[in-house]
Amino acid sequence: MADACENAVLTHLSQSPDAVISDTFPWSEENGFDHGAVVGCIKSLEVDGYVAAESLSTSFYTLSDEAEGILANGISQEIAVFNAIVAAGSISEADLIAAVGKDVAKIGMGKCMQNKWIQKEKETKSLVPAVAAGDVKDEIVEQLQALREGKFAEDAISSEVSKALKKRKLINLTIRKSMKVARGPSYAPVRKRKAADLTKEMLETGAWQTTEFKPYNFQAFGEKVGGGYLHPLLKVRAEFRKILLEMGFAEMPTNKWVESSFWNFDSLFQPQSHPARDAHDTFFIKEPASTVSVPEEYYERVKTMHEVGGSGSIGYRYDFKREEAFKNLLRTHTTAVSSQMLYKLANQEGGFKPARYFSIDRVFRNETMDATHLCEFHQVEGLVADYDLSLGDLIGTIETFFKKIGITKLRFKPAFNPYTEPSMEIFGYHPDLKKWTEIGNSGMFRPEMLAPMELPENVRVIAWGLSLERPTMIKYRIKNIRELFGHKVDMGRTRTAPVCRFDSQA
Ligand code: PHE
Repeated sequence: MADACENAVLTHLSQSPDAVISDTFPWSEENGFDHGAVVGCIKSLEVDGYVAAESLSTSFYTLSDEAEGILANGISQEIAVFNAIVAAGSISEADLIAAVGKDVAKIGMGKCMQNKWIQKEKETKSLVPAVAAGDVKDEIVEQLQALREGKFAEDAISSEVSKALKKRKLINLTIRKSMKVARGPSYAPVRKRKAADLTKEMLETGAWQTTEFKPYNFQAFGEKVGGGYLHPLLKVRAEFRKILLEMGFAEMPTNKWVESSFWNFDSLFQPQSHPARDAHDTFFIKEPASTVSVPEEYYERVKTMHEVGGSGSIGYRYDFKREEAFKNLLRTHTTAVSSQMLYKLANQEGGFKPARYFSIDRVFRNETMDATHLCEFHQVEGLVADYDLSLGDLIGTIETFFKKIGITKLRFKPAFNPYTEPSMEIFGYHPDLKKWTEIGNSGMFRPEMLAPMELPENVRVIAWGLSLERPTMIKYRIKNIRELFGHKVDMGRTRTAPVCRFDSQA
């Protein structure tokens, strides 16, 4: 196609040195080419000097469907209406509509009234002619015909007529861009393509010596490199991870999404009747429905703590059920991993040593989804286990972490968690939103949770958890969580999202 078009243009110009294509638009039609393709091929010929092109811009009228209809019928609506009234002498509106049709009657009657060609009799409400038939002529048809004869050119009708026809939405002025083409400085009737690449064959045959090469285009953009891109959540995660590693935290292994109720709830001193353990809040696993094993001695101590208490606690006083503890689920929080790490820490060779752990990974909750809630999200979890820690240490650690992500104004509100006492919700002041928003939950793990693990008695564990999504949405100004996570995510955004960097205040 491109070659056929190129040949046709060059052949046209071969007729004489002064040959021109005066307008590519009709020329394309006459020669059966798509105009867009012709323009493309002329631009390409122009670059190599084969042709010289000038841009043209032609204004012409186009007809609306209504105008096409008037021209095809050879009669305007007002004349059709007037003729029907003259023929009848006097006619009711309903009969007129029956005679000429609703659309014609509506427009035609309006125009006839405007022109004072007809009037309505006061008593009978019938329509009667108000002028002699000879005094009326079909100007609209005449004007549209004149336009057609003038090939729809801008000067085919006067500007007044054009205004009136436009107002009646019968015509429209359209501008067409095309080209005038003449021979260029390097015109030849056949295009010789310059080689873009030096090939092995050219070297072997010696053809390279006579081949004309395209000059290098140093302005051309290189091809975009399609590498991998980090999702905004992962960018924020990378930044959080860096901050926590800097603060001396080690990452917990969170690569197991399925946990037993024992680790997710029981080890955290969450009673088996707790509402969060309901299937409405937790996704239980059908296959395999229960876990294979838990550390038995520890299990017994957890059971005892739930049933009768210990370490100064009276426990929950109910029958602790093994089937309940063994039920598999999708972890509802990464605190399920924290409890396993603490258990290991207490039972490792050489005994307990102070530690700081963190994790950032996915958790699952059986929630109704909306703009701010999904069934799965990511939690940033942190804990410090050391001798004689206090609530002050917890507040201090949290303040240090948040300072590093640029949140300096914090408030703590007393809260309740089955596994921490005291517990505090963390609120941060968001300078853009100008309000306090909940950004996390925290507390000191209860003795009822730590004692069965057999951590030394004066070891305290401070811990906190927050969602990864919330700070990410704030950082990237995303209003709906579904635009951040899930199947509605715009891949383009993933490619263009800037790197995440928090303005560290510390
Ligand atoms: N597990 C809590 C949650 O899912 C967060 C938390 C972690 C609270 C550690 C206190 C201590 O919201």
